[in-house]
Amino acid sequence: MRISRFVLGTMQMGWIIDEKTSHRVLDAALEAGIMTIDTADIYSKWGEGSHSGKSEEIIGRWLSGRGTREEIVLATKVRGDMSERPNDVGLSRKHIIASIAKSCDRLQTEFIDLYWSHWPDEEVSQEETLRAFNKLVDDGIVHYIGASNHTAAELVESLWMSDRYGLGRYVAIQIPYSLARRRDYEKHLLPVVKKYKFGVTSYSPLGGGFLTGKYTEDKLPDSKRAETTKARYFKNRNFKIVDVLKEVASRNDCTLPQAALAWVLSKETITAPIIGVNSVEQLEQNLLALELNLPDDDLKMLDEVSDWEDMDFIAR
Ligand SMILES: NC(=O)c1ccc[n+]([C@@H]2O[C@H](COP(=O)([O-])OP(=O)(O)OC[C@H]3O[C@@H](n4cnc5c(N)ncnc54)[C@H](OP(=O)(O)O)[C@@H]3O)[C@@H](O)[C@H]2O)c1
Repeated sequence: MRISRFVLGTMQMGWIIDEKTSHRVLDAALEAGIMTIDTADIYSKWGEGSHSGKSEEIIGRWLSGRGTREEIVLATKVRGDMSERPNDVGLSRKHIIASIAKSCDRLQTEFIDLYWSHWPDEEVSQEETLRAFNKLVDDGIVHYIGASNHTAAELVESLWMSDRYGLGRYVAIQIPYSLARRRDYEKHLLPVVKKYKFGVTSYSPLGGGFLTGKYTEDKLPDSKRAETTKARYFKNRNFKIVDVLKEVASRNDCTLPQAALAWVLSKETITAPIIGVNSVEQLEQNLLALELNLPDDDLKMLDEVSDWEDMDFIAR
């Protein structure tokens, strides 16, 4: 299954942006050739007045209004808690089988192209999860399965399980990856990705907005995510990365988000970064990264300032 060079993330929909803006973003993305949409059952339960499943509902109404289901590669996820009921969470067979029906209802579709386990569930064996996913694939409700936020060991164990029991395997992984967050992927997952040929859709390519340059040590931008982004990314080394991004952007007559996205796009094992936007303007700006080929010297400067080898030394 082929996907577009960018995947459109939809965690923002129903949380930061309303339905009307979400539909405008979806329209603009599809018109620009982004036909791969990433959502999750729990999106976006964080907003005031929002609830789990809201992002899927917004996408479902868009799909049904546009009649474009066949054009789209649609991905959603299961694992997060959908209510306080004890079985309404996790990667058990019971929850997976119940969840897919609800996701399909909300998305107004009969099938999901790529179904993700959102993050591992230590209380359930991978065999049970993979058997449940396989039933969905056999029944034609799901086409492919992927593993999000899994460690290298968990991925390899899943491959053993698939092999041992003759079950379909995870074909893709989803992980955070950006100039400000490289080590987990490059140190631990990359060797597994190369050896076992996983597709990779990476999320938070702009570090939740940090790499756009609008965060300074004494001033936060007007963003609902500002406090979370601050807690995660405010480190001296990340501000140094932004300084170099500014230099590179000015030399290449582009914006910081474009330069940061072009750096991710330059990494050959990344199949497609998942971009998250709050407006058509942000989307249009970020799409230009697809046409931006940063010179090798600039990519090298960005590689060097974000290098994690020194962090590794400290960690040891
Ligand atoms: N599997 C998982 O566990 C997982 C976890 C997280 C995300 N995801 C997926 O990945 C997608 C993307 O993640 P993300 O939202 O963290 O990505 P991101 O690209 O790191 O951050 C996106 C945020 O940056 C800001 N932004 C984007 N373009 C901008 C521009 N041109 N100028 C200024 N600000 C800009 C916007 O926030 P502000 O305007 O508010 O600053 C936007 O919401 C999500 O929608 C979701 O589908 C998956």
